[in-house]
Amino acid sequence: MAHQILEGKKGIIFGALDERSIAWKTAQRVVSEGGQIILSNAPIALRMGKINELAAACNAPVIPADATSTADLELLIDKSMEHFGGQFDFILHSIGMSPNVRKGIPYTDTNYDNFLKTLDVSALSLHKVLQTAMKKDALNEWASVVALSYIAAQRAFPGYNDMAEAKALMESIARSFGYHYGFKKKVRVNTVSQSPTITTAGSGVTGFDAFYHYAGKLSPLGNASSEDCANFCTVLFSDYTRMVTMQNLFHDGGFSFTGVSQALIDDMEKAFSQ
Ligand SMILES: NC(=O)c1ccc[n+]([C@@H]2O[C@H](COP(=O)([O-])OP(=O)(O)OC[C@H]3O[C@@H](n4cnc5c(N)ncnc54)[C@H](O)[C@@H]3O)[C@@H](O)[C@H]2O)c1
Repeated sequence: MAHQILEGKKGIIFGALDERSIAWKTAQRVVSEGGQIILSNAPIALRMGKINELAAACNAPVIPADATSTADLELLIDKSMEHFGGQFDFILHSIGMSPNVRKGIPYTDTNYDNFLKTLDVSALSLHKVLQTAMKKDALNEWASVVALSYIAAQRAFPGYNDMAEAKALMESIARSFGYHYGFKKKVRVNTVSQSPTITTAGSGVTGFDAFYHYAGKLSPLGNASSEDCANFCTVLFSDYTRMVTMQNLFHDGGFSFTGVSQALIDDMEKAFSQ
């Protein structure tokens, strides 16, 4: 179903670890729509993941960058401009990690060094990417930057731990930077608030499986898959969404605006009648 909506567009995709990653699916979709990409991930993820398979299939160079390191990002942007022969058109920020989540440290007994690391990797990295791109004037007018978020930025999801604060901060950075980049260069910045999705980062959250099923039953359209998310990000990179910026866009099958669903009521009634 490719329509070549990204023909002539070039960009960087951060965060493809394995074939379940949202960034992996987005890379495939972008290329099938005529886009040209560079893949980037943290050096350690490049060693542990399978990115070279994706790179070969997408005819894309892989350039390592720890997204918390401005020096790495400067090098990445320089090399990208060299590879593309100038400015480019889109960036996918698909990066998240919390040492507190990884180590199972409860929110109410947090380790603050870990907390700061969570914010740096999962939120400030978006600011660093945008600031580096702006300083180097790396993006064309009407370029589009998309970062992935989650509804725990607005509502309490206890298992999500300090990632909730990271997502709230990241969404705010998208709004604030979107304002500045919009006026300066007509560059768009948005976040996509995605359904729970079975990936390495997603499944690391406590109680993920149960919640995945709950969200699927509550949402009128069910959970949005990583392929659906890839399609949405691709449209956001295209000229069909030229006037969309500074938004947090829910891509969740209707979850965010549903109070309760008949499927969940049926489940509860069954449980109470036993
Ligand atoms: N899976 C879900 O349920 C879900 C739901 C909503 C939003 N998201 C968000 O989607 C994004 C992508 O996650 P995913 O679910 O595809 O999982 P994933 O584990 O495949 O991707 C996370 C990526 O972040 C990268 N990363 C971690 N630290 C980094 C650093 N310092 N520098 C550069 N890259 C780094 C990892 O290497 C990995 O590739 C994340 O922002 C995540 O929070 C996921």
